[in-house]
Amino acid sequence: MKVKTCKTTKTARRETPDMSKAEIGLIGLGVMGSNLALNIAEKGHAVAVYNRTSAKTGAFFENAGELRQNLVPCASLAELVSQIKPPRPIILMVQAGKAVDEQIDGLRDLLSQDDIIIDAGNANFRDTMRRFAKLEGSGLTFIGMGVSGGEEGARHGPSIMVGGKQEAYRRVESILTDIAAKYEGEPCCAWLGEGGAGHFVKTIHNGIEYADMQMIAEIYGILRDSFGLEAGDIAPVFEKWNEGRLNSYLIEITAAVLKAGDPKSGKPMVDMILDRAGQKGTGRWSAIEALMMGVPATAIEEAVAARSLSAEKDQRLAGAAAYGKAPRAKASSPEADFLHDLELALFAGKIAAYAQGFAVMAEASSEFKWQLPMATIARIWRAGCIIRSQFLSTLAASFEADAEAENLLLIDEFVQMMKEAHPSLRRIVAHAALAGLPVPALSAALGYFDSFRQARGTANLIQAQRDFFGAHGFERIDEPGEHHGPWGQG
Ligand code: 6PG
Repeated sequence: MKVKTCKTTKTARRETPDMSKAEIGLIGLGVMGSNLALNIAEKGHAVAVYNRTSAKTGAFFENAGELRQNLVPCASLAELVSQIKPPRPIILMVQAGKAVDEQIDGLRDLLSQDDIIIDAGNANFRDTMRRFAKLEGSGLTFIGMGVSGGEEGARHGPSIMVGGKQEAYRRVESILTDIAAKYEGEPCCAWLGEGGAGHFVKTIHNGIEYADMQMIAEIYGILRDSFGLEAGDIAPVFEKWNEGRLNSYLIEITAAVLKAGDPKSGKPMVDMILDRAGQKGTGRWSAIEALMMGVPATAIEEAVAARSLSAEKDQRLAGAAAYGKAPRAKASSPEADFLHDLELALFAGKIAAYAQGFAVMAEASSEFKWQLPMATIARIWRAGCIIRSQFLSTLAASFEADAEAENLLLIDEFVQMMKEAHPSLRRIVAHAALAGLPVPALSAALGYFDSFRQARGTANLIQAQRDFFGAHGFERIDEPGEHHGPWGQG
């Protein structure tokens, strides 16, 4: 649909007939917002756009080329609202947190019954639930929508995770499925449940993303520090792995990153980057929610902790000075068998991390009564999002066959894959430990797996200790009920 550009001056605006109005609005023309707006426009939907700094709106529109015909730049919220055909769907793509509340407050008096505010940022799902509660009874509808895929995804097809009223989703479904990534023609967009379900799933997506990235970095660290390989020598290893079971976007970009040179120094770009990682919060929220629900997500937790420790550069420098260099394995080129172990170790770590992430979602699904569709989640992560991979197709197929699976590690196909891969994970974690190289996420994955398959663990001793100092009681293996030990009786 072609739409005339609306005037951004304060002169009285002539009422445009409904047919020429935009189908949807978008607030926030940062990297994600502007790319999403272009994506919407490209799919033939007229979109009214607004940014608090109007110069940005103007520049965005000027640079939009042919897509300008489907863009309506607006200078105020009121203008934006007036340019959208009611009932109006409006996407917020502003910084998570306070800015979202401010935009909602700003829109409330301008919107009418049945208009839909869609928060597409990386919101904490608890904020999303609070916003649902706040808008309850106002006549307005709220959708909390996770969008993954970075700049490229926003522009050409992200993975979209929707939470809120299903009926509200139905009203925007065609636009969302048009702009979403497609996996073999199937849109990577779905309604996942009420309230904060969409943002919760996006949070766990990011937690898994943190674990995936950390484990890749740990493997890179072994090749760099245990064997002294240069970035350019490590790149082909990842390139090769990308053709096999590890095939994924993150492995692909790792190879590309390792190949890139720094135009300034002429050295590999990755060698010129400070080893201090940023984080905006979603990985940490995954770990916090997992801990609050009592679901082990240790690979994700360690990935978050590794980023935090990476940021403590000064302390790490002091640590290196205090303890000296960690013992390192003798540098020599890795044998083919060792490289195969590395590949399988990464795969085993990945399986454990996904098992944890999906277990967290399963628990949240029952706690918040969402009925999260696990197979659908795996399906909409197969394209568009940062963790897209071949592995997710296997995962989706497994959940389709066994929707009630309690843990990924108990699904037949994964049992077979893990049986093949865990000995390698064990050898690599042992190698790293002896070489003094940190592999916290891989170690956590191994610890989780070994604990998961241990029929008789060691918590009997913990129970005895608890009973000893606090009379907390324990269960016996040979009779029901609560019991106490004979502590203190000599
Ligand atoms: C995605 C990403 C994205 C995330 C950035 C940065 O799915 O597109 O997860 O949502 O914001 O990757 O996140 P951190 O700063 O926490 O690494």
